[in-house]
Amino acid sequence: MTQALPPKPPARPDRVSLWRYVKLFRQDILSAQPARLYRAWMAEFRTPFFRSFLVNQPELVKVLLKERPEDFPKSDRIAEGLKPLLGNSVFLTNGEAWKRQRRIIDPAFEGGRLKDTYPAMRAAAEAAVERLKERQGLVEIEEETSHAAADVIFRTLFSIPIEHQVAGQVFSRFRDYQRSQPLLNLAAFVPLPRWMPRFFRRGTRRNAEVIRELIAQLTRERMDAIKAGTAPDDLATKIMTTRDPETGSTFDTAEMVDQVAIFFLAGHETSASALAWALYLMALYPGWQEKVAAEAEALADESFAAVSKLRVSRDVFRETLRLYPPVPMMVREAACPEQFRDRDVPKGAQMVLSPWHLHRHERLWENPDGFDPSRWQTENGKQCQRDAYIPFSAGARVCTGAGFAMVEGPLILSMILRAFRVAPVAAQVPVPVAHLTVRSKNGIWLQLSRR
Ligand code: HEM
Repeated sequence: MTQALPPKPPARPDRVSLWRYVKLFRQDILSAQPARLYRAWMAEFRTPFFRSFLVNQPELVKVLLKERPEDFPKSDRIAEGLKPLLGNSVFLTNGEAWKRQRRIIDPAFEGGRLKDTYPAMRAAAEAAVERLKERQGLVEIEEETSHAAADVIFRTLFSIPIEHQVAGQVFSRFRDYQRSQPLLNLAAFVPLPRWMPRFFRRGTRRNAEVIRELIAQLTRERMDAIKAGTAPDDLATKIMTTRDPETGSTFDTAEMVDQVAIFFLAGHETSASALAWALYLMALYPGWQEKVAAEAEALADESFAAVSKLRVSRDVFRETLRLYPPVPMMVREAACPEQFRDRDVPKGAQMVLSPWHLHRHERLWENPDGFDPSRWQTENGKQCQRDAYIPFSAGARVCTGAGFAMVEGPLILSMILRAFRVAPVAAQVPVPVAHLTVRSKNGIWLQLSRR
């Protein structure tokens, strides 16, 4: 029996006018793209305002991300959209400023530290299961996974649960901020001429200010606790006390606020999206769901060692990140003129990397649109994992939280499936759309019942 494919957004016709393109873009970046991108190695978008290139060939992706990242810095256009919230965070900076930030942040996320972070993650996973026990029945699961992932961030970073008054406010303000996102997409991916007015809604800017002030409050309190010697040994303390090995300096409070803002944004939206899709896929493929649930019995052992036993869950999560990469596209800028595949790429051109298209590339992957967690044990799966799989990006700017997310995701997935059975809701097939991350147009609805 052929199994149904997981949802994929419709592609647009090959040729559309610029205005139609911009309109489609404002709705959703994924359905604004033509189907040929699933087969192309490189594509060019030429409009009166900008030239951008989508790079979809493993060798070229490697050049941009791993071999010559400094020739393809983060595009200023991204900063333009996200600066009100993220300031000078590591996500937006380039050059020396970025290098210094990574030298201070990276040690907090090293493999060895994950073990110290684990009890907080596990506590958040248990709290998520308890919350779901209250709900049961018909549940919109993105809301729940957002809650869970935000809880993970606050517990691991500041040792406070999401119920903490300030954490709760950041979370709800952030949700409002998200709702005004499509315009940010546009600013980031379709570079507008400088003279064109930017369409930040007043509410978006105001929300960013409030979120930053709340984070500043937590950071100031933590700085005081560090000075008083009473700070808990969590990620915030680790980052705020780590000295740059080259200059000996630490982050001051303002710099830390920028970093906390990105940890919150990059760390909760992404994991929440992946977890929600993973649970939906489990509802669609009950055979895999049962395997994950059976394996999850290993979690009776509360120690970090149990995570290494969640092999099926990890393959399922990895397959989810392939089909629904939470960061569907990334943009870089060519710092000098280039020639790629016999095409001239001018200085300043926007270079779009698309995990979404690369992960479903029809000339690289076997069964590109199918859900098959066992592919990771096959020759093709292993080859593609090396060459055509970048859910966390790659190279020097790889996601700092990749290791963290690969523990958190399979853990929460397993904890939920250990307690509940999930089933799809016939009238509610989710439609993937990309806002800041890949979400479903009308949420992801599942039927939850206790095991
Ligand atoms: C499934 C979960 C996650 C996914 C799919 C993901 C994906 C990504 C991707 C694709 C990038 C590169 C973006 C670009 O270059 O334009 C990135 C960067 C980043 N991520 Fe993640 N992320 C996840 C979870 C996390 C978590 C849990 C944290 C922290 C707690 C985190 C922190 C960061 C930071 C700080 C950067 C910026 C790195 C830099 O530019 O040097 N992420 N992430």
